[in-house]
Amino acid sequence: MEQLKRQKVYDLLKVKDETLLNGQVNVKGWVRTKRGNKNVAFIALNDGSIIHNIQVVVDVQSFGNDELLKKVTTGSCISVNGKLVESKGSGQAVEILAEEIQLYGTADAETYPLQKKGHSLEFLREIAHLRPRTNTFGAIFRIRHALSFAIHRFFNELGFYYLHTPIITGSDAEGAGAMFRVTTLDLHNVPHTPEGKIDFTQDFFGKETNLTVSGQLEGELGALALSNIYTFGPTFRAENSNTSRHLAEFWMIEPEMAFYDIHDNQDLAEDFLKYLIKYVLENCPDDLEFLQKMYDNELISRLQFVTENTFERLSYTKAIEILEQSGQKFEFPVSWGVDLQSEHERYLVEKHFKKPVILTDYPREIKAFYMKQNDDGKTVRAMDVLFPKIGEIIGGSQREEVYEKLLARIREMDIPEKDVWWYLETRKFGTAPHSGFGLGFERLMLFITGMGNIRDVIPFPRTPFNAEF
Ligand code: 4AD
Ligand code: MG
Repeated sequence: MEQLKRQKVYDLLKVKDETLLNGQVNVKGWVRTKRGNKNVAFIALNDGSIIHNIQVVVDVQSFGNDELLKKVTTGSCISVNGKLVESKGSGQAVEILAEEIQLYGTADAETYPLQKKGHSLEFLREIAHLRPRTNTFGAIFRIRHALSFAIHRFFNELGFYYLHTPIITGSDAEGAGAMFRVTTLDLHNVPHTPEGKIDFTQDFFGKETNLTVSGQLEGELGALALSNIYTFGPTFRAENSNTSRHLAEFWMIEPEMAFYDIHDNQDLAEDFLKYLIKYVLENCPDDLEFLQKMYDNELISRLQFVTENTFERLSYTKAIEILEQSGQKFEFPVSWGVDLQSEHERYLVEKHFKKPVILTDYPREIKAFYMKQNDDGKTVRAMDVLFPKIGEIIGGSQREEVYEKLLARIREMDIPEKDVWWYLETRKFGTAPHSGFGLGFERLMLFITGMGNIRDVIPFPRTPFNAEF
């Protein structure tokens, strides 16, 4: 077969380089469908570069290789040389008149799981190794890429530095949930101390280690030197919550800023979310339109609405008053001091304010030790951003920068000082007011794609009893 430069379907359908028209081109990809008759065959070819397929037209008589054409079935992979022409059909602007086809891989029609369209998302989860070849998951994973890129671009434009915080951690100070242990000890023959405890001094790191639940504490070390940093990495929580909004392995973006107070922190969170949503609206219109058509007919208007409206800001205390006076029956009753459930968060966002909400100043008892203590002795300078359909999308706070207050809280909460001595030292040496937050990447993906289940916005979801792929 003649060697030609491969063209991505994206380039042929979107970039529309005039000089390619009526010339010879090569495309490679996976066959979505083949239809036609004994004179002509139409192959819809997709290479993942764009949601649309390019149509390959084969004049069966002049092509003269029935044996090969028979093997070009849904799911097979081919390379096509042919002439790029304006399409006579209505569905597409250009198509390829095939001259040569090379078959890279067949896909047996009897056993290929994606032979037919319209599989349920539940079924596709069971074939996570093949689901990227569907229109839905192609769209989702392209958006996931665009969003990742936009995150780095946003922070780079603002002069934030990307700090790589560790995945394996020796502390469980955050208290954000059960952790996954990291060990090289022989589980069949675990060493013990004379007191009968597991002897972690013999483990790989000489101490207990786990997968991190958050990069924040290390992020703070960076902010108290570089001023503005962010992390963007995987985090792990072994909570057994089998919900449509929780993963055991999820990605989090955590900016941390010296000299920011809680108001600066809220401004950044709002700007950040709006920037990311706008980026996807501008750069992924085809994928968004597909998802809107298939799953959520208000998707694009909801995204636009969020970019165009100011988030409502109020205190936790005020939110509790609203919930108490709502007359709404909640599964979990509300009163001052309770942790808000997603039903409460969604009531505030979807029914009461009808736009994103930022709640601040939560009771200290339900928040982490590091949050800045308010003078009332009851609340801390916490901040959660709540979104329609999602509930909590961001959690953050101004941090306690006063050494004595932080130490007192650590002791009150029985956090071993040997685990956090290094964190405390930042308050001893050149402490500074600072703030930060964590955005759950898959929660944002849920909002932007309109999908209903968090398992469908990450390529290989990790949930209880699910780590096959
Ligand atoms: O509210 P969280 O637990 O906050 C922190 O971890 C802080 N250290 C962040 C910081 O201040 N730097 O988690 C932050 C966000 C949540 O708002 C939610 O969007 C997401 O992470 N999240 C999860 N996403 C998927 N699956 C889970 N199990 C999640 N737990 C939290
Ligand atoms: Mg939280």
